[in-house]
Amino acid sequence: AAQDRPMTATTQPIVIAHRGASGERPEHTSLSYELAIDQGADFIEPDLVPTKDGVLVARHENNIADTTDVAAHPEFAARKTTKTIDGQQVTGWFTEDFTLAELKTLRAKERLPQLRPGNQRYDGQAQILTLAEVIAIAKQGTRRTGRTIGIYPETKHPSYFASIGLPLEARLVAGLEQAGWNRADAPVFIQSFEVKNLQQLKGMTPVRLIQLMAPAGTPADGGPSYASMSTAQGLSAIAAYAHGIGPELTMVVSASTRYSTLIADAHAAGLKIHPWTFRAENYFLPPPYRSQGTPAAHGNLDAMIQYFIGLGVDGFFTDYPALGVSARSSA
Ligand code: G3P
Ligand code: CA
Repeated sequence: AAQDRPMTATTQPIVIAHRGASGERPEHTSLSYELAIDQGADFIEPDLVPTKDGVLVARHENNIADTTDVAAHPEFAARKTTKTIDGQQVTGWFTEDFTLAELKTLRAKERLPQLRPGNQRYDGQAQILTLAEVIAIAKQGTRRTGRTIGIYPETKHPSYFASIGLPLEARLVAGLEQAGWNRADAPVFIQSFEVKNLQQLKGMTPVRLIQLMAPAGTPADGGPSYASMSTAQGLSAIAAYAHGIGPELTMVVSASTRYSTLIADAHAAGLKIHPWTFRAENYFLPPPYRSQGTPAAHGNLDAMIQYFIGLGVDGFFTDYPALGVSARSSA
């Protein structure tokens, strides 16, 4: 009930369409982004990786084996390779080994066909999008809906891409500049797990920056650890370069009391907090919903989002923006 809620958020929480409406369309496509906008999302999220010719494209990772039809293209068979990225061995086809023109010959497909079988009907319909094209979709969405649609790009593996001569930072800032969005008041947040990447961006752009956090471990650029980031001292260090934090959602209300004050501590440090990712398949539900948690239980997801809004988050990432928007209006 409203009276039980800590009123820590000053404005209504933003709904960030995670990879677009990726619960209902193949992720990072015009189909998923446009559906998200039509469903009422405030921001669309492109994860960004570079092509061989240095163009930023929207993919969750540089390995495109699981999200495109590249394996069905015999002309690219010899490009299949194994690389070590952020300490992990990965086998597949990598965006940095393809020009944009080559990537454009591929078609996107559903990453999780067993979990989201209905989305397979869209396989083969959409191309890989550039950052410029994602921005154009957001701007067109603004014209179509009369609401401001922003973008919430994530730099993926920035230290790895710097190490192979394809740094992301200047390309991202140039892309924003070209769109007239390299401004403090642009409808843009830039997110990253890597601290040095964000600190570098802080010196290059006035756009709002978000420090992502995982429940355990250390960012690929060497740290500090996420556990130390989420202490009051760590949060105040983040406030020197970032506008907010993006924690994995279990960090906000985990059974572990370690993170139970994360929202209050973030706000005390002057940081916004945008947890990820609300999806029907998510196994975690906070009390009192935990016992009801089953995959694809949309009713529970709605309750879970309302619960987080009641706790005072300033926004949230969801694969189901329609649900996020309706949960926000009921919270
Ligand atoms: O950007 C928030 C969240 O998207 C981070 O996780 O793996 O879905 O990019 P991931
Ligand atoms: Ca992301």
